[in-house]
Amino acid sequence: MTDKNEWGSNLSFVFAMIGSAVGLGNIWRYPYVLYSNGGGAFYIPYIVAILIMGIPFLILEYGVGYNFKSSFAKAARKINSKCEYLGWFLPVAVFMIMIYYSAILGWDGIYMMLSFTKGWGADPNNFFTTTLLQSSDSFMGLLNFIPVIAVAMLAGWIIIWFISHRDLEQGLGKVSKILVPLLFIIMIIIVAFSLTLPGASIGLAELFNPDWSLLTHFEIWMAAFGQIVFSLSLGMSIAFTYASYVKDDADLITNTISIALANSLFENFAALGVFSILGYMSLQSGTPVADLVSQGTGLVFIVYPTVFNVLGQWAYVLGPLFFLTVYLAGLTSILSTIEPLSFSIQNKFASTRSRTMTALIIVAAAISMIYATSFGGSLLGFVDTFINQIALLLGVVIECIVFAWIFKVEKLIDFLNSKSKTIKLGKWWLIIVKYILPIFISIIWIGGMFDVAK
Ligand code: PHE
Repeated sequence: MTDKNEWGSNLSFVFAMIGSAVGLGNIWRYPYVLYSNGGGAFYIPYIVAILIMGIPFLILEYGVGYNFKSSFAKAARKINSKCEYLGWFLPVAVFMIMIYYSAILGWDGIYMMLSFTKGWGADPNNFFTTTLLQSSDSFMGLLNFIPVIAVAMLAGWIIIWFISHRDLEQGLGKVSKILVPLLFIIMIIIVAFSLTLPGASIGLAELFNPDWSLLTHFEIWMAAFGQIVFSLSLGMSIAFTYASYVKDDADLITNTISIALANSLFENFAALGVFSILGYMSLQSGTPVADLVSQGTGLVFIVYPTVFNVLGQWAYVLGPLFFLTVYLAGLTSILSTIEPLSFSIQNKFASTRSRTMTALIIVAAAISMIYATSFGGSLLGFVDTFINQIALLLGVVIECIVFAWIFKVEKLIDFLNSKSKTIKLGKWWLIIVKYILPIFISIIWIGGMFDVAK
C-alpha cells in the first residue's frame, strides 16, 4: 500500500525543499527584479529580506510543521478550531499555483521539442503570441495547437502523477535527490557558456550598475521582500508540510540556512546567464540592453528563442538545455504545491496517499487544460497577480499570527536550539516573527493591493 509520508533521510527533505524553492521565480522573475530595482544596490534590501524574513520565517514554518507532524489543516484545527478554514485556504491557494505552473510547464515542453529544430521560426514573438496563445486574430493558429498543448500538458501530468502517487521517499524523495543536483549542473553549464559570449560584459555591467539613490525608495524594499516570499515559497504551507514528513530528529535551523543559500545562489546564477545573453543580443542587434529586458513568459518564450535564432550551431545544444532547466525547475516546484492539500485531505478523510494524489491530479489536469488553451494569457496574468500580490504575502501574515501568537512558538525554541549546529534562536527571533514580519508584510501587502487595483 502506498501510503507513507516520510522522508528517508534529511537529504531528501533538504533537496525537496530546494526543488520547491528553485522555480520560475528564480529563472524569469529574479533577474528582472534585480535589474529594475537598483542593480547592485538591490543586494542590500535583498540580503536584509533574507536575514529578517526568509530565514526566520522558514524556521517558524518548519518548527511548527515538525512539531505537529500532521497536515496543515489538521494542525490549524488543533491550534484553534476557529483556524481550520485558514488551514484549508492556504493549501487550496497553493494548489491553484500548481495549475498555473503546469500550463507553463506544458508550453515549455513544446519549446523543448521545438528547440531541436528552432521550430518557432524566424519571428518568435509572433509564434508565441499568435500561434501558441492566439492573443489576437489567428484563431486557426490556436486550433492547430490545441492538440499539441493538450498532449504536452498531459505528458506533464503523467510525470507528476508517476512521482507523486508513490510513497513519499520512493517518489518525491528519490526524484529530488536526482533532479535538484542536475538542475544546478545544467544551470552552471548554461551560465559558463553565456559568460563567454561576446557582449556578455555589456549585459552584466547594465545589470549590476548600482543605483544607490533607490535605497531610500520604498519600492525596492517591497520588491526584495516580495521576491524572497515568492522565491523561497514562504507562507504557503509547503515548508510546514515538508517538515511534518521529517521522521527523525533534524537540525531544522541549519537546513533552513542551506536551503536559503542554495535558492539565492541559483537565482543569481540565472541573472548572470540572462544578462550575459541580453548583452550578446544587444551587441548583435544594436538595441540597448534596456530595450531587450523582459521577464515572465516574454523572456523564456520570446527573448530566448530570438537569441537561439542568432546563435548558430550552439543553439541546438543550449536551447534544449535551457528549456530543460525551466522544465525541471517548474516540475520540482509543482510537485511541492500538491503536497499541502493532498496531506490535508488524507488526514481529514483518512484516504491513502496514492488515491488522494490520483484524484487531485485528475482534477488539476482537467482544469489546467481549459486554462492553458481557451483563455490563454489573460487568465494566467490575473492568477499570477493574485498569487504574487495577494495570496503569498497573506499566507506569511496568517502563519505569523497563527503560529507565533496563537500557537505560542516560544515553546519550540529550546528544542530547535538543542539540535542546531549553527545559529541559536533567541529573543531576536521572537521579535521578528511576532512583530516585525506581520507589520512589515502587511504594509507591503497593502502597497501591492494598490498596484493590483491600478
Ligand atoms: N518558489 C517558486 C519559484 O521560485 C514558486 C512557488 C511559490 C512554488 C509558491 C510553490 C509555491 O518559482
